[in-house]
Order: sequence, then structure tokens, then C-alpha cells
Amino acid sequence: MNNFIFENATKVYFGKGCVKEYLACLTKQYGDTVMLCYGGGSIKKNGVYEEVMSILTAAGKTVIEFPGIMANPTYAKVLEGTKLARENNVGLLLGVGGGSVMDCCKAISIAARYKGDVWKDFWERAGIFDFEPLPLGVIVTVAGTGSECNGGAVITNEELKIKTGRDYPQCNPLFALLDPTYTYSVPEFQMASGGFDILSHIMETYFSDPDAANVSDDISEALMRGVIRDLRAAIKNPEDYTARSNLMWESTMGENRIIKLGKRMDFECHQMEHQLGAYTDCNHGAGLAVLHPVYYRHIYKEGLAKFKQFALNVWGVSADGKTDEEIALAGIEALEDFIVEIGLPVSLQDLGVDENTDLKAIADSCVIMPGSYKKMTHEEIYAIFKECF
Ligand code: NZQ
Ligand code: ZN
Repeated sequence: MNNFIFENATKVYFGKGCVKEYLACLTKQYGDTVMLCYGGGSIKKNGVYEEVMSILTAAGKTVIEFPGIMANPTYAKVLEGTKLARENNVGLLLGVGGGSVMDCCKAISIAARYKGDVWKDFWERAGIFDFEPLPLGVIVTVAGTGSECNGGAVITNEELKIKTGRDYPQCNPLFALLDPTYTYSVPEFQMASGGFDILSHIMETYFSDPDAANVSDDISEALMRGVIRDLRAAIKNPEDYTARSNLMWESTMGENRIIKLGKRMDFECHQMEHQLGAYTDCNHGAGLAVLHPVYYRHIYKEGLAKFKQFALNVWGVSADGKTDEEIALAGIEALEDFIVEIGLPVSLQDLGVDENTDLKAIADSCVIMPGSYKKMTHEEIYAIFKECF
């Protein structure tokens, strides 16, 4: 294994009823004013808003609401939230939602305490912290990004057509409340998309050096088998607590840095999806579902032994009578079949991308990752996009 330093500052409260039990106590030390940040309104339909508001009100908090955080949060929205936080001298940001809400909150937590140009100094280039970001706590309502246990904030700058993220340990939420029953109301498509995002985070880590026996790959294989099992069960019964709670923790495990320790990581598919999102505003997990099998057919030869291991250990592909290459390809095929089974798109057309979209411009704007088995070129990424159509 490669050398590493590990720390994760987020304190996690997990399980049914955790918000009722701990939220009041957790907000105590952050002053009188809480900024409640949320998305397009799902929390008003499923009772979460009411539950959270009643706890905050009973605790004597003044609640400033910041609703309307969109999927793929924009830099403009970050600036809007920053203004509100500053004007009201907010003591705690409380994000209630999925990755979009959590990421927007992390960016606000920096911007509210920083005088310079946040995009330039923290997203365009790596930022320097000589200040403490505004305290942030999160309540997760959908499994997928694992944003609750890292400092990553993926933001879309619409003007520049760039969707990008950076992971600042200083932005790890101070606390994260994970009640799996809050995810019961997530529509099936979004649940599948979030589930695939989990799988993608694990695969992007697994398919990279080092490949000698290591703890990360062992945990990753177990997690991948779990996500496949639990997604199937949750699609059958959306209120299967076991499946939903497993998915919620698998999501955190995918992105709480543990499986990344000692690995180089790939994440080229994430780079491609982020730029596709910057140009088309597509759904994150669904975009990843379209890209992964095609990308893997482009790189499997450079990582043949690992793709074979993936087919055998994750998908249970039979090795009988097959060459190594046939086994590896059968694993990628099993992944593609699973994408279809859970109702996600397998082409850019299915994803709703217009045929006149400038795929060349999107390809040229993608970051090339150093950790992949095969280093991409912008031409090969363009070829992948065209194959995805
Ligand atoms: O906005 P509302 O009305 O709340 O509805 C949301 C939204 O439409 C809905 N939803 C969430 N919880 C629900 C629910 N609907 C019913 N019941 C509930 N309990 O789900 C929809 C999608 O929400 P969103 O937060 O956008 O989804 P997700 O968690 O997949 O987050 C995606 C964003 O996170 C970024 C993605 O790029 C994208 O911008 N990522 C963040 C990462 C990180 N910080 O570590 C890593 C990821 O790779 C990813 O890039
Ligand atoms: Zn992701």
C-alpha cells in the first residue's frame, strides 16, 4: 500500500430517529441563528422539514431559510446563500438534502468567511485556509454522493461552463445525521442514480494502482456486492429498512476517504460526467451510468487482471472455458446489464442529451486524470462520447 495520513472530522449519527434524538443538542453551541438550506421542496412533502423546524424552534433558534438549491448547484446559488448568511450573522449552516445541498453549503461555508474571489481562490486553484469556514451540519435525505463525510464540494460555474470539485478537509461537516427512513420517499430513478454513483465512486477507486492484494480493494469488493444487493432489494420494496440503511452507509463508505487510502484512483469518468453536466445539466448518477461501460471497454486491456478480478469477485462471472479477456468483458457486460435492470440510461440519447450538443467542446474541457490505467487524450474522450450516443 502507498503511504497515507488519515483523518475524518465528521461525527456521524446514524439510524432511525437520530434527528429527533440529537439535532437540538448538536446545534446548541453555534449561537441563535441557524440557516436551513434545502433543495426544491421534497423535504416539505415527506415531513422532514416539519420535523427539523419543530426541533429548531423548540430549541429557541431563529431559522433563516435558504431553499431552492438545485441539482448540480451553481456558483450563483453559492453567492446568493453567502449573502444571506452574512446579512443574518448566521452561526450554523444546516444542510438538509443530498449532494447538491451539502456541496452548496460547503461552498457557502468558505465564501461566508472569505473576502476574496472564492471561485478563483478555491475552485480554479487549490485554496489556502487561514480562517475557519462557517460551521456546517448536514441531514442526509438521499444516498449517493457520500458528501456528508468529506470536504468535497462540486459546483457548476455556468458562465465558464465548468463543473468541478475540490475536497477540503476544513469543509467536512461537523456533524452528519443519517436517518435511512428519510430516504424512503426518494423516487426510484433518483435512488438508482444515487446507487450507481456509489458504485462508481468505488469502481473509480478500485480500478487503479496498486493492484497487489490490499485492504482497500477487499473492502471495495464487499461494498460493490452490497450496493448491487441492496439496490435490488430497495427497488423491490422502497421501505426495506435493511436495504436503505445499507445503501446509506455504503454511500458514506464510498466517499469518506477510507477506501481511497493507499490508492492512486482513476475518477476520469467523473471528470467526463462533470463536464457533460456543465454543458447539459444532466443527472450525475445517470450520466455516470452511460459513460462507465464504454469507458471501461476503452481501458480494460491496460488493467486486464483487475477487470478479470472484478468480473469474478463482484459479478460472479463463471471462468469456465473463457480466456482472461473474455472474463473481463463479461464483467463489463454484467455491469451494463445491471444498469438496464435498475432503469438507468445506457446512451446519451436516453439521458436526454440533444444531438446538436457540442461533444467535442465538452471532451476538450475534461480534465485528464493521472491515476487511470490508461491515460486518456481529449480525442479518445471525444470518441467515447460519440460511442455513447
Ligand atoms: O431538491 P429536492 O426537492 O430536495 O429533490 C431532490 C433532487 O431533485 C431529490 N431528493 C433528495 N432527497 C429526497 C429527494 N426526493 C424525495 N425524497 C427525498 N428524501 O433528489 C434529487 C437529487 O438531489 P441531489 O442532491 O442533486 O442528488 P445527489 O445526492 O445525487 O447529488 C448530486 C450532486 O452532488 C455532486 C454531483 O456532481 C451533483 O452535483 N457530487 C458530490 C460529491 C461529493 N461532494 O463528494 C461526489 C459526487 O461524485 C458528485 O460529483
Ligand atoms: Zn459521483
